[in-house]
Amino acid sequence: MNLKEAISNRKTFAIISHPDAGKTTLTEKFLLYGGAIQTAGAVKSNKIKKTATSDFMEIERQRGISVATSVMGFEYNGMQVNILDTPGHKDFAEDTYRTLTAVDSVILVIDCVKGVEAQTERLMEVCRMRNTPVIIFVNKMDREGKEPFDLLDELEEKLNIKTRPLSWPIGIGATFQGVYNLYEKDIRLFSANKTKLESDVVTLDSIDDDKLEKIIGNEPAAQLREEIEMVEGVYDPFSKEAYAAAELAPVFFGSALNNFGVMELLDTFTDIAPTPLPRKTDVREVAPAENKFTGFVFKIHANLDPKHRDRIAFLRVCSGKFERNKFFHHVRLDKNLKFSNPSTFMASEKSTVEEAFPGDVIGLYDTGNFKIGDTLTEGETLNFKGIPSFSPEIFREVENRDPMKTKQLEKGIRQLTDEGVAQLFIQDPGNKKVIGTVGELQFDVIKYRLEHEYGAKCDFRHLNYYKACWLTSDNKDKLNEFIRIKQNQMALDKDGNHVFLAPSAWILQLEQQNFPEITFHFTSEFKREILV
Ligand code: G4P
Repeated sequence: MNLKEAISNRKTFAIISHPDAGKTTLTEKFLLYGGAIQTAGAVKSNKIKKTATSDFMEIERQRGISVATSVMGFEYNGMQVNILDTPGHKDFAEDTYRTLTAVDSVILVIDCVKGVEAQTERLMEVCRMRNTPVIIFVNKMDREGKEPFDLLDELEEKLNIKTRPLSWPIGIGATFQGVYNLYEKDIRLFSANKTKLESDVVTLDSIDDDKLEKIIGNEPAAQLREEIEMVEGVYDPFSKEAYAAAELAPVFFGSALNNFGVMELLDTFTDIAPTPLPRKTDVREVAPAENKFTGFVFKIHANLDPKHRDRIAFLRVCSGKFERNKFFHHVRLDKNLKFSNPSTFMASEKSTVEEAFPGDVIGLYDTGNFKIGDTLTEGETLNFKGIPSFSPEIFREVENRDPMKTKQLEKGIRQLTDEGVAQLFIQDPGNKKVIGTVGELQFDVIKYRLEHEYGAKCDFRHLNYYKACWLTSDNKDKLNEFIRIKQNQMALDKDGNHVFLAPSAWILQLEQQNFPEITFHFTSEFKREILV
């Protein structure tokens, strides 16, 4: 396959949702439609339930599932579709944010009963930061949910994006009869059926066609006509350009569990979703059609077998062609590496790939060479941008419980934080290790893995920090003065950047006022331009 062809038929995306909205179910239905699996139930949910907090074996099992389902590929309408899985649990939100750097678009699943939930808002913020095009799927229409107009208002308000329905529900919950497809001008009839893949379709001449009464009844027909008139009056026509620019999100209604609305979602997705997009680096923008290979690591997964210390680094191909057993340049280490076993994973099946194209994600076996954000090229020195660390919300100091195992502890902490399980900040003097995370669960994971994979034991001492802020300023003297004065609350991140650990929102605000020359950042996105 030539490069241009490969690019023009690839779509790489992620499904995101608040836990329980139906991400796993929809993913599975996509794979079913794409012929990648034959029966429902082949894809296991990778969500870590709250009750699992102290159940480490459960966490391990879940980690296994999430390796197996990290990237799932299938063909549909002549397109190679790559779905990147994202963990549902909020404590692993940072993993999801990083995965979003490796996709070209997302499908957002909303539960029609619950509407926009907290995690949906945060995930959408990340999509907006990166201008990622979004299609919204309102799921569980077979349940008594919110009124569609209210739901669309809520989506626009809370997610700060314009919406445009492409289908419109007829009834909801017990009265749900199907959807009217606003573009094809047909009715797709709903039946509660988990095995049937295609819905019955009735084509209308227009919404005024008197067939409508016969199909859905007089009252629902009158209501539908009224609502469609409102939809056409209130919403701008769908624009592919506005969608591609992440300004407008098309909306579909359906029920993933009952295979309803999934096919039209997939048809529209393969039609309008962007093919692999150019990506920014610290020196220039890289276009997918460039002949030379480039790619970056956005996720690292430790081997589930603690006896084998090797890991899998997930790399997104950004340009050119990746080839098995060819030497590529690891920019940070300034070293050439070749890979004899690059893999793809699919519902627990692992297979070796000979070549991969822009938009593809491959798993590379790693013995410690990779950190999240690392770039591979054919020799050029460049680093992909946009793999940020976000300020953690919970901070704990690591206390070594076994001085004989200090080396193991150091190594374990370094490797786990390279994997992105948590962030490590070092405070001087004393080489104090501060671990920052977005959720409590990570501390359980770290403790468990340190003990089982590295033979090291530790405790965590609670620290009352509010946020970690990366600092930049045009005024070097002021910056150095701040670092000197605040020595006790300063730390270095994994790349040696100075970070201010703000004790409270109030103190942070005060420091911002006292040092107007300094910018306090809550993500490390800018880190390569940092001045200190
Ligand atoms: P998640 O990955 O976003 O966390 O959600 P998941 O797909 O696991 O779905 C969460 C629950 O919602 C599941 O039920 C699933 O069967 C149900 N669900 C998904 N789509 C629909 C739908 O269209 N209508 C209805 N009524 N339910 C839907 P569960 O009881 O938690 O799990 P399970 O025992 O059914 O697997």
